[in-house]
Amino acid sequence: MLLLRDLTQLATPAGIDAPLRGSALGEVEVIEDAFVLCEGAAIAAVGRMRDLPALDGDVHEVDGSGMCAVPGLVDCHTHAAFGGSRVDEFSLRAGGASYEELHAAGGGILSTVRATREAGDDGLRAAVERHRSWMLRAGTTTFEAKSGYGLDRDTELSSLRAIREAGGIPTWLGAHAVPPEFADADTYLDFALADVLPEAAKLAEAADVFLERGAFDATQARRYLEACRDAGLALRLHGDQFTESGAIPLAVELSARSVDHLEATGEDGIRTLASSDVVGVLLPASALFLDRPMPPARALVEAGAAVALATDFNPGSAFCESLPLVCSLAATQVHLSPAEALAACTVNAAHVLGRADRIGRLAPGYRADITLLDAPDWRYLAYHLGGRVVAGVVAGGELR
Ligand code: NIG
Ligand code: FE
Repeated sequence: MLLLRDLTQLATPAGIDAPLRGSALGEVEVIEDAFVLCEGAAIAAVGRMRDLPALDGDVHEVDGSGMCAVPGLVDCHTHAAFGGSRVDEFSLRAGGASYEELHAAGGGILSTVRATREAGDDGLRAAVERHRSWMLRAGTTTFEAKSGYGLDRDTELSSLRAIREAGGIPTWLGAHAVPPEFADADTYLDFALADVLPEAAKLAEAADVFLERGAFDATQARRYLEACRDAGLALRLHGDQFTESGAIPLAVELSARSVDHLEATGEDGIRTLASSDVVGVLLPASALFLDRPMPPARALVEAGAAVALATDFNPGSAFCESLPLVCSLAATQVHLSPAEALAACTVNAAHVLGRADRIGRLAPGYRADITLLDAPDWRYLAYHLGGRVVAGVVAGGELR
């Protein structure tokens, strides 16, 4: 058994529903002077120190004084499987070049495709492992990661395997960009659906598509997603990043798990999403990194949409693995309260990954995934902008 004792505060999303929406998103249960007791990989009990039962047997005790505990953070949208870097492009963008122009000129995503193909199985495995260790240090105990920088059969499958081996939840982003060896998006999809999907469906849990001008249009996205759904995969979409190109109506029609980005979403999209069960995954680090408008987070929550927060960690549009920083951006840039931000990157993110019954809460029976904050108040998760707020994590009952 592992006992975290004398925690200054413990904070966990309230209620039992997932995803949380409307006013329930901001309801956090806070216990002062708290403990968490873990038995093996599961949480056995949480409560106030004065209610701690007498324990016999082998108990490893951790002094939590001066620290707060929140559920292990859940990053439901990353692109952690890539080779190389885009630091050169980053420097060009700092000088004024635009992300979409670089992409259209064969840089951007396609330059990472070249580097990822060159990395090989071992290089990819090492890269995902390194990125996973960064995430863990930032308090993330569960991460999803997408392929999408291989775009050939071997590199896509190798990416999905590397993600699995690092303990991530793999998503096949087979429709991220059209690789240079194909004349157009339709011909590429002919290949991807015939030659990659059958194997990818055995490795991935979900499929994702970049529905955007310069990538895949709504007709192509529908074709890809329907084939993936028929192969048993859950569905996700990158949508409304630069233009509203029909991602929200398509996500709702196909009962996708989520539609992610939404920086360009207008009032109709907000209404449509709010009256559906599709989660809007907001990626404010990506908007910041590209100096783009922030997603309409407050309007989505007020309209009753279910929202989650994620990093979008990738080499081009969000070289950021920190969910605490994303919570800070949520509070300062899009006016989500620290409580709403916490629920959005724990229980609601867990829902996007189909795991809200197991992770995202500090409650008996949930996985013993706990993020410890070096802070006298749990809201430092969002308050400490870019600081070293994570003191450590417990993952599956093990202190890391
Ligand atoms: O979510 N928008 C598409 N894909 C990624 C970025 C990929 C890249 O720039 O390498 C995103 O922002
Ligand atoms: Fe993304």
